[in-house]
Amino acid sequence: MSEIAKLQVGDQSYEFPLIKGTENELAINIKTLRGATNGVITIDPGFKNTGSCESAITFLDGEKGILRFRGYSIEELAEKANFLEVAYALIFGNLPTSEQLEKFHSDIKAKSVVDDDVKKIIDAFPKTAHPMGILSSLTSALTAFNPSSVNVESEEEVYNAIVKIMGKFPVLVAWTMRKKQGLPLNYGSNSLGYIENVMKMMFEQPNENYEINTIVKNALDKLLILHADHEQNCSTSTVRIVGSSHAGLFASLSAGISALWGPLHGGANQAVLEMLEAIKEDGGDTKKYMAKAKDKNDPFRLMGFGHRVYKNFDPRAKIIKKAADEVLNSLGVDDPILEIAKGLEREALSDPYFVDRKLYPNVDFYSGIIYRAMGIPVEMFTVMFALGRLPGWIAQWKEMRFKKEPIGRPRQIYTGENERPFTPIQKR
Ligand code: CMC
Repeated sequence: MSEIAKLQVGDQSYEFPLIKGTENELAINIKTLRGATNGVITIDPGFKNTGSCESAITFLDGEKGILRFRGYSIEELAEKANFLEVAYALIFGNLPTSEQLEKFHSDIKAKSVVDDDVKKIIDAFPKTAHPMGILSSLTSALTAFNPSSVNVESEEEVYNAIVKIMGKFPVLVAWTMRKKQGLPLNYGSNSLGYIENVMKMMFEQPNENYEINTIVKNALDKLLILHADHEQNCSTSTVRIVGSSHAGLFASLSAGISALWGPLHGGANQAVLEMLEAIKEDGGDTKKYMAKAKDKNDPFRLMGFGHRVYKNFDPRAKIIKKAADEVLNSLGVDDPILEIAKGLEREALSDPYFVDRKLYPNVDFYSGIIYRAMGIPVEMFTVMFALGRLPGWIAQWKEMRFKKEPIGRPRQIYTGENERPFTPIQKR
């Protein structure tokens, strides 16, 4: 195939080079377009056809349902690795040796204490505050308590910022949940593994010895791995674009958390469970809700279905569906909502509306059912997504930073008024 793309604008034709990725994905490199054409730009709402960067972190083939982090398949990682190993691979490029993993973990543990004054900020939030709003604010506030983290030019300070946030973020997650539940804001234990420590911090009751349930631990490890990265999605693009202004890591992550909050993105896991609950309350009539989802005059969407890039089964959803069955069986939880979810999936997969539009269950369709079985409140589901996505955001921010990408600043086509005279207020 020729290595160039040709573009005709009016009578003039232009040539642009093609860029090929390691999986043979092709892009037209239009870096010189505006200069060469005297001001012509491209418009692509929602960036459905626009690559914002070249990245060596995550490969995703939405047509074939393939997802790989640093070349490792998501299926293998979910089966054989733990979350911290995956985090290391995402951030530093390869799965760690035992020594590298141990050093990474001990650096994280050394930085995991959160300034006690952060509790005053948590105290100031009203009871009605959504945990994602609290988490985003606290993550941003960490900059104030760790001013050196804004030095994005220093590799050493960037490494420090990375281990600090890997250590402190689970504390913020746990405190966000415990505050809502009226429980003391505690710490875990440095003698525990990363996930075990997260569990202890989240679930330990003040008057009981906390025992780690291995089924829950393995399921949480897997869920967080599945969420760990997903290339240039809405929140990750947000993290990269905020970081491109040379804002610090914590500020960039805080913006990513806000982006994740929305129901079309990470907020879908909460929305799925609320939808399934509503269907159950309404008598379990899945057909009625299928009809609503297909009705173009009804704003209702089947939450947990469809994906911007997967036009085939989301490989993460397959793994999660199996895990949901295993976790609920092992914990002896009989959740009627799982049956409603399976019913909806069956119907959607054979319904022409969903089949024609290639709408399959996504990662969030079953994750909430597992989180609920673990005893995590619905409002915390998107926070759990953020905990899983943290290493992906860090890896993407670090890649953007060290490649010295230019500030993200899209252009526009202006469609407003042409120049007009100012009219004094009395004459308007
Ligand atoms: N229920 C009913 N119809 C749908 C759905 C749905 N969940 N998703 C897409 N459609 C229809 C949509 O109405 C449109 O139909 P038509 O062509 O007749 O106008 C067509 O399918 C294409 O949809 P789109 O909105 O143009 O597709 P998109 O790529 O812009 O949106 C999406 C992707 C994920 C935002 C969308 O599928 C959606 O809203 N899904 C529900 C929310 C959800 O589960 N989000 C979680 C995504 S996975 C977690 C993450 O990584 O964020």
